[in-house]
Amino acid sequence: MNREADLKRIVSGRVAENEPMAGYTTLGVGGPADCFVEVTSEDELAALMRHISEKCLPWMVVGDGANLLISDKGIRGIVIKLGEPFTRVEVDGLKIEAGSAARISRVADIAATHDLSGLEGVGTVPGSLGGAIVMNAGTHRGYIDEVTESVSVVTETGEKRILPHKECGFSYRKSRFQWDRSMIITFATFKMRVGDGEAIAQHLESVRKHRAETQPQGKSAGCFFKNPPGLSAGKLIEGVGCKGWREGGAIVSPVHANFIMNVENATATDLYNLAERVRLQVLEVHDIELEYEVRIIGEW
Ligand code: EPU
Repeated sequence: MNREADLKRIVSGRVAENEPMAGYTTLGVGGPADCFVEVTSEDELAALMRHISEKCLPWMVVGDGANLLISDKGIRGIVIKLGEPFTRVEVDGLKIEAGSAARISRVADIAATHDLSGLEGVGTVPGSLGGAIVMNAGTHRGYIDEVTESVSVVTETGEKRILPHKECGFSYRKSRFQWDRSMIITFATFKMRVGDGEAIAQHLESVRKHRAETQPQGKSAGCFFKNPPGLSAGKLIEGVGCKGWREGGAIVSPVHANFIMNVENATATDLYNLAERVRLQVLEVHDIELEYEVRIIGEW
């Protein structure tokens, strides 16, 4: 209880002990976090990180939960969520400043309404702005780093910093934030180009429509495995006969084999066991070891 009271003095957002994580992930599974904390400003986040570092507590940040498989046993330590003020999107001429909890698709839509081009490549990808920066997300129409001018962060010791593009370590689908876990992304500033808003909006709509037609709808974390170099994980998994495989309430989607879905109140263990069976099958048939694209969190 002490811990909860301490945290409530620091943040004005929600603080809850033993908070079930299932409601914070698109897969709809995940046991309790020891302590869940929602922060509502950068200053609050900085104060929280100072507290966490003084007490040497384990911590992690959840974004949209679109790429997480959290174990049924949950997460030890503090789980931090950036609250509503971090969904802010502000347009000023060619610049856009947006919070890391904003959906990247929403930021791209807002850019289109201002005739600003540069985010349409990444604007069709699911997830939050922060997640998109970490993954340097995008498509052949452009990656997020191409328009990213700077990224604001709070460090694990509670300092606020602004990293210019060149300090973000961007390369193809990579950024420093994948290996340097000492920073929490709070905002990003984009330098856009003048574009044709209507054409951008049409592009966003047609890619989203295509995705809705070719990818299964329902409780998923998107693609479960990374594509091995030059190959498609979905094609490989289908080729070794895993489509439709089940484990408890989990299924390998008959629509796209790289989607392992929660269809009937699956547990995290159902999903994980099914994913491991799929990995083993691909390994046995093709001698290819699939790597997880989803982040696997907690104890198993
Ligand atoms: N395919 C099959 N069987 C399947 C699934 C796919 O034969 O069950 C074939 C398709 O017919 C196609 C090829 O495999 O010829 C590639 O499939 P797709 O076009 O669906 O693309 P993908 O490589 O499976 C990637 C991303 C997706 C993203 C799509 C579209 C990865 C691991 N996946 O999928 O990202 O939505 O391209 O841009 O990079 C995600 O990030 O969660 C995700 C789903």
